[in-house]
Amino acid sequence: MSRFIALIPAAGFGARMGNQLPKQYLSLAGKPMIYHALHTLCSSASIFRVFVILAPDDHEWARYDWSSFADDKLAVRYCGGATRADSVLNGLKAMQSEASIGQDDWVLVHDAARPCLSAAQLEQLIEVLAPDEVGGLLAIPVADTLKRADADQRAVATASRAGLWQAQTPQMFRLGLLKEALSKVDSASITDDASAIEAMGLHPRLVLSDAYNFKVTYPQDLALAELILQKRETK
Ligand code: CTP
Ligand code: MG
Repeated sequence: MSRFIALIPAAGFGARMGNQLPKQYLSLAGKPMIYHALHTLCSSASIFRVFVILAPDDHEWARYDWSSFADDKLAVRYCGGATRADSVLNGLKAMQSEASIGQDDWVLVHDAARPCLSAAQLEQLIEVLAPDEVGGLLAIPVADTLKRADADQRAVATASRAGLWQAQTPQMFRLGLLKEALSKVDSASITDDASAIEAMGLHPRLVLSDAYNFKVTYPQDLALAELILQKRETK
C-alpha cells in the first residue's frame, strides 16, 4: 500500500512580501503563517508524515513551540535550496533516506504560503488522484479576461482563457517519479512541481479547487487570508 506524505517547501524569503521576516513566519490569525497548512496536513488521518523543508540558516522555526504536532508525524529538515524546485528535490532526497518511505509513496507538495487549504480540498485531492497513473494538482479555471501587455503597459491583445487553469498546491506525485522529473529540469525555470512532470511528457490531472486556497504573495493578501481563516473557525 502506498502512503501519502506531505512536503512543505518553506525555505523562501518572501521577496514580494517586502518584509524582513520570511513570509511563512508572518503572523496570521495569531499564528505564524506556516502553522495553518501544517495543522491541516498533520490533522489528516490520510497523511502518514509531514516534512517541512527549511533554509539551512533558518533561525525562526526554533523560536516557536510546535509541540501541538505529534513528533512521529512532523519532520523538519534544514535542506532548502536556492529555488523552490531545489528545496522540493532536497526534501525528497531527505525523505528517501527514511526506511519507512518508498519510491511508490505519494508525495503531496504544499506551499507554506497557502494557509487556507481546507481539509475537504485535501481529502478530495487524495481521493481523486490515489487511483491515477500520473498524479496531479489542485487548480481553478481562469476567471478573468487575459491581456497581453507591451513594454509600455498597454494591452496589445486579449488571450483566450479557454482551457487555462491556475495551478495551486498540494501537487501530488509518486516520490520516485517526482524526484526523477525535478532532477532533469532547470530548477530556475519552473515554479511548480507539475511542470517538471509535464516536461517528461506526462499529463498531471487538474482537480477542481477554489479561490480560497490562494497563495499569500503580496502584503494585501494577509488580510484576505486572515478573513478566510477566521470565517472557518467561527463555523
Ligand atoms: N520556497 C522554498 N525554497 C525556495 C523558494 C521558495 O522552499 N528557494 C517555498 C516558499 O517558502 C513557499 C513556496 O516555496 O512556501 C512558494 O514560493 P513563493 O510563494 O514564491 O515564496 P517565496 O519564494 O518565499 O516568495 P517570493 O517569490 O516573493 O520571494
Ligand atoms: Mg518565490
